[in-house]
Order: sequence, then C-alpha cells, then structure tokens
Amino acid sequence: MEFQGTRVLPGYLDKSRQMALVETVRDVARHAPLNRFMTPYGKQMSVRMTAAGRVGWVADQTGYRYSAFQPSGVPWPPIPQDILSIWTDITDLARAPDCCLINFYDENARMGLHQDKDEGNFDWPVVSISLGDDALFRVGTNDRRGPTRSVWLKSGDVVVLEGPSRLAYHGIDRLKPRSSTLLREGGRLNLTLRVVEDPI
Ligand code: SIN
Ligand code: FE2
Repeated sequence: MEFQGTRVLPGYLDKSRQMALVETVRDVARHAPLNRFMTPYGKQMSVRMTAAGRVGWVADQTGYRYSAFQPSGVPWPPIPQDILSIWTDITDLARAPDCCLINFYDENARMGLHQDKDEGNFDWPVVSISLGDDALFRVGTNDRRGPTRSVWLKSGDVVVLEGPSRLAYHGIDRLKPRSSTLLREGGRLNLTLRVVEDPI
C-alpha cells in the first residue's frame, strides 16, 4: 500500500525472523526495561516504551525528549545487529539509526495521531516494524486536518515514512487482540528506527 508517500511492506519479515526478533527485543528489555511514561498533561500513556541506541525516548513533567539515559540513569543498550540490518536492507543507507524505539501495546493500548518531528533532520527516513497482534494504523498527510487512510498492520509488516511522507501524521487506533500467536501473552511490539542527529 502507498498513501501520499508512506510505504507499507506487507510480510517483509517471515515467521522465523519475527520469532528471532522477539528474542532480540526480550534481550534488549533485560538491559532496558519497558517504561510507562506520563504525558506532560499528567496522564499515563497506554503504550509501554523502551529503546536501544545512542539515544532513547523519555517523557516526564517537563515534556518528551530524546535522552542518552534511561530513567534509571543507565545508558541504553546498543541497537542489535539483526535490527540494524533491516534498516540497511530497506534504506540502503550507510548511516545507522541512532535510536530503535520499542513500543509495547497491550490489547487496550493506542497511539494518537502525531508527527515524528523531534529529530534534527527530516531527510532521513523512519522505518517501523510490526510484531505480534494486528494493529489498525492510520496515516494522513503533513496536515493534521488532512485526509487519512487506515490499514491493518500485521506481524512482519514494515512501514517506511520518507520524503514527502516523512512528517505524515500517523497513529494506532486499536489492536485486534489475539490475532497473532507470536507473543506468548499477546499484544504487539513496534520497533521504530530513526536517525536523531544531535538533539539531547
Ligand atoms: C509510533 O508512531 O511511534 C508507533 C507506530 C506503530 O506502533 O506502528
Ligand atoms: Fe510515530
């Protein structure tokens, strides 16, 4: 599917690569446990998050930002090689991503429509990998009030936001619980790879 430049690559990862990636993510989470961040408005986010890479995403009363440190004060673990190679295969870029954000959705989690715009340079693409339960992804244009299109993302699908779609509004409206058996306890993992460039 393609909508205003957003590319969806259905079934990009086969089952065995998906299973291996889940183990990789479990290993990252042993060094960087999932966090349940508060929004600046004092509400708890439904999606739990952690990261790998030079920087990860943190949120507290002062706002959202990339940080070189986990909330515990420890640096994030490096981005594992099998995740890096997905980035390289898809983008063909020599530059590695700075951040692999790891989102975990339980069956009630959702992510409101937003732009990924906290990076220093929007020329780099965003690569987003889905694992586990199906999720209803909504993507629009660079205008919050513009038209949107919805697509069910399945385990192994990859979405690329690049060029004209790099700043497209997007979000996850809901999950289809128990639609995948990849994660023993159900739910969905989303891995988002980004070049962040000099923020901190
Ligand atoms: C995000 O936009 O941060 C996550 C998108 C997704 O879960 O597919
Ligand atoms: Fe996003």
